[in-house]
Amino acid sequence: MPASRRPDGVLALGGVSLAEIARDPRFGTPSYVYDLDAITAEARDLQTGFGSAPHLVAYAVKANSAGPIVQALAAERCGADVVSGAELTLALRCGVKPESIVFSGVAKTDAELDLAIGSGGGGIGAIQIESAEEIPRIAARARAVGRAARVSLRINPAVDVGALDTHSYIATGHDEAKFGVPLASVGRALDALTHAPELALVGVGSHVRSQLTATEGYLASARAVFTFAREVRSRFALEFVDGGGGFGIDYGEGCAVRPADFIRATLVIKKEMGLEDLSFYCEPGRSLVGAHGVLVARVIQRKVAEPRRWTMIDAGMNDLMRPALYQARHRIVAVALDAAAGTGSYRVVGPVCESSDDFGIHELPDIEGGEVAILDAGAYGYSMASRYNGRALPAEVFVRGGKVALYTARRPADDWITDRLRPEPAT
Ligand code: LLP
Repeated sequence: MPASRRPDGVLALGGVSLAEIARDPRFGTPSYVYDLDAITAEARDLQTGFGSAPHLVAYAVKANSAGPIVQALAAERCGADVVSGAELTLALRCGVKPESIVFSGVAKTDAELDLAIGSGGGGIGAIQIESAEEIPRIAARARAVGRAARVSLRINPAVDVGALDTHSYIATGHDEAKFGVPLASVGRALDALTHAPELALVGVGSHVRSQLTATEGYLASARAVFTFAREVRSRFALEFVDGGGGFGIDYGEGCAVRPADFIRATLVIKKEMGLEDLSFYCEPGRSLVGAHGVLVARVIQRKVAEPRRWTMIDAGMNDLMRPALYQARHRIVAVALDAAAGTGSYRVVGPVCESSDDFGIHELPDIEGGEVAILDAGAYGYSMASRYNGRALPAEVFVRGGKVALYTARRPADDWITDRLRPEPAT
């Protein structure tokens, strides 16, 4: 369940009052709060959508890399989609099986490739090839490590991004994007793979975009991947097809489809195309965690210059970058309702010295002080946070079984000062 209001008017997440969390000296504000039970339930719901079809839910760790979350998802048989050596190591340390990890990214370093090839008994599940040029590089690393590398080919199906309403920064499956092998280079990539005995092509896939609120774009991309799989499977021993992530959530403007709806519709097409024997991989990030995290902040003060009214809070764009970076809108609500107070429209802004440190206009109580919750902040929130302006990284609070189970305290400002004074003499 996303955040909900209790009968006493206080907002709660996973049964825990956000007012209590905000006032707890261990966490305070700004704090991210996550509902681990709801994240687990989200993963189960998606797994159920597969029925008995062979599959892997590879959680896109970039969405939220908090250890307790990756561990909770690993316990639900999720694999991981990682984009760096650090994310790969984290996933392994959280109990994700090496063979259930796929490694995406357009510029993997030699050290990262070595780690992927050298992990576990036979390397990770697959290194996702994002360009024909990457193939000889991966082959060279496989030779250096002394082990064959399992790879999958991520095609860029050039589906029409203009037809969909995804913000251009989070659309990846159009032919101007740096991601995936463009259809024009696929022949070259296949030739290179044929001549690379160190590489085993075990999968083909694509990832078109994020925050899809309808199935059409995903299905168009999946169809392109399935067509491609049919073409190449006589030449390579394919084990899976990968539809990528991108399942949307409701940020307040609606999202009629659930992640499992994407899967059920995709599996119908996969069966029609005679690919039932191949496993289907998906790489959801946002949809597993987004709705099950909030960012709790304190109102520092208001500023009024009618007709403009601002509410200044102690969370800024460094804590949650999505509004500044993508003009994304997150609902913001008061943590506690005061029946006596009226409400008004306020532009909610943070303390960071940037005009884009702006969370948009929201209806909030006309009272000084109090706390607010920025909703649906479980994905791409903390994982994109920075220390700009010398700000502390926010605390993180993990709720399970109706109570706070774990937390990470805010980094003290001293940490940042020490870091900035760290340079050593070079001689
Ligand atoms: N797989 C690949 C190869 C990806 O590039 C991504 C996300 C995912 C899976 C997971 O996508 P999801 O299920 O979360 O939509 N920071 C942006 C989103 C960037 C998405 C990047 N790639 C945001 O805050 O909206």
